Amino acid sequence: MKRLISNIDQTEERFKEKIEAYKELMDVFHARVDSVIIRDNDPSVIRYRTRGKLDVRSRIDLLIDEKMPFLELSTLAAFGQYDNQFPSAGIVTGIGKIHGKLCMIIANDATVKGGSYILETLKKHLRGQEIANRNHLPCVYLVDSGGIFLPEQSRIFPDRDGFGRIFYNQAQMSSAGIPQLSIVMGSCTAGGAYVPAMSDETIIVRDQGTIFIGGPPLVKAATGEEVTAEELGGALVHTGISGVADHLAENEQDAIQICRNILEFIPSEEPQLYEKVPIEEPAYNINEIYGLAPVDLRKPVDIYGILARIVDGSKFEEFKQNYGPTLVTGYARIMGFPVGIVANNGFLTSEASLKGAHFIELCNFRRIPLLFLQNISGFIVGKKYEHEGIARNGAKLIHAVATSTVPKITVIIGGSFGAGNYAMAGRAYDPDFLFMWPNAKIGVMGGQQAQDVLDSINGNNQNDLITRFEEESSAYYSTSRLWDDGIIDPADTRTVVGLAISVRFNKKFAPPKNGVYRM
Ligand code: COA
Repeated sequence: MKRLISNIDQTEERFKEKIEAYKELMDVFHARVDSVIIRDNDPSVIRYRTRGKLDVRSRIDLLIDEKMPFLELSTLAAFGQYDNQFPSAGIVTGIGKIHGKLCMIIANDATVKGGSYILETLKKHLRGQEIANRNHLPCVYLVDSGGIFLPEQSRIFPDRDGFGRIFYNQAQMSSAGIPQLSIVMGSCTAGGAYVPAMSDETIIVRDQGTIFIGGPPLVKAATGEEVTAEELGGALVHTGISGVADHLAENEQDAIQICRNILEFIPSEEPQLYEKVPIEEPAYNINEIYGLAPVDLRKPVDIYGILARIVDGSKFEEFKQNYGPTLVTGYARIMGFPVGIVANNGFLTSEASLKGAHFIELCNFRRIPLLFLQNISGFIVGKKYEHEGIARNGAKLIHAVATSTVPKITVIIGGSFGAGNYAMAGRAYDPDFLFMWPNAKIGVMGGQQAQDVLDSINGNNQNDLITRFEEESSAYYSTSRLWDDGIIDPADTRTVVGLAISVRFNKKFAPPKNGVYRM
């Protein structure tokens, strides 16, 4: 395979400036991630620890196999909303190996409003289940939650993708043979009681876990009966009397060990086969990627330079190199996995769209996962292009993306605007994973363009529009609302994409829908 050549003059002033500017973006990113993970001075964390309970991420560390990575999703969910009172939206979700098996872990953080659910908590929980369902990943729920966050109930309870969907998904997955396991680490109240109740197998921690449909105050109000939480639905009640839980654990560590033992006896799903090759590091320094990231979206981007720092051995076999060059397509490997790359290199033209559609078909037929690297301001506009049928040709690419049957992983490395977002496997095109770089932006169009459009229609000046569009298109705005699966450090792109592909190889791919139509 051909090796990409990408030499950068480190001493060049402009490159040094770009690296420095990106360092500032990374400082902001790290500070924001730290603010939701390291909360040693938060009174609710201090109170929780004095009760002898483990932090949510420490529980996960103990649960997964030693020295194995944990792909945490949407760490900054709810960031910048609700006065930042819901770090990580009060729930940690992600994929890790337990007893050698990839599992989806969904863990409440009871130090965040008693582990109760706002909309983003729910979206995160449902997204975790969706990924598990798609990839046949056993689900392990570490339950410690006061159910719906009551002041927000109307946004969480009633709709199709409301709180009830959690238990619906559990039933669907269980019937599809995807194991559902719960460890009750704390409170499971009201709706929350159904997470363990709907699980295939449930572990509960002595003197700590409780499960009840209505807690003691509700029972008193409804029936006048006075009862303690332990008497109503403690670990001894549920393992000895009601049978709602199956295993009595002496403490959290014991509960985690029981869960690991259960997983030892769960058979693995038949994985997708592929030709394994040894992992080869890129030939170039990964840190140079900060100087190449598309921060100023008006400037051209060295997409080959970025690829040379992401793919194994910097090796890339390009498809249709000279045709439709504003879209770069080709074969490579990432962490040893085969991958078909579709990367923007300018506006989407008719030629680029046809080439993209053709390449996606090839990858479908050859069972090669697709990696979309988005940096797109949209399809090309103008009379000439409309006349040559850009909408028709763009539709072919969008159709190919929508109906593709191989895994799709999208990384928004720069801008993601307009229909370009659709054609490059934006969230609505159901990519298996979608990550953003800290500099990424997403929106129907840029703020200035939106203002120009509205000015020309209304003739009035919408002064605040640019600022609003700027704020609403930031990667942090997106990740806070679960429009993606998380913001990642550009230097981690290889590792994250490699992990995401390994998750998708856990289950056989669906067969391709049709052959390769020449475009
Ligand atoms: N809705 C709104 N807020 C809730 C909540 C819920 N369901 N559950 C907990 N909270 C809030 C508390 O008001 C408190 O907020 P504050 O920090 O601003 O004072 C915070 O979460 C911590 O709760 P607290 O009761 O102090 O913690 P705890 O560890 O002693 O108890 C629970 C945790 C979950 C056992 C307890 O809060 C509880 O029973 N909550 C209500 C559960 C319920 O009835 N849910 C029904 C909805 S489906």
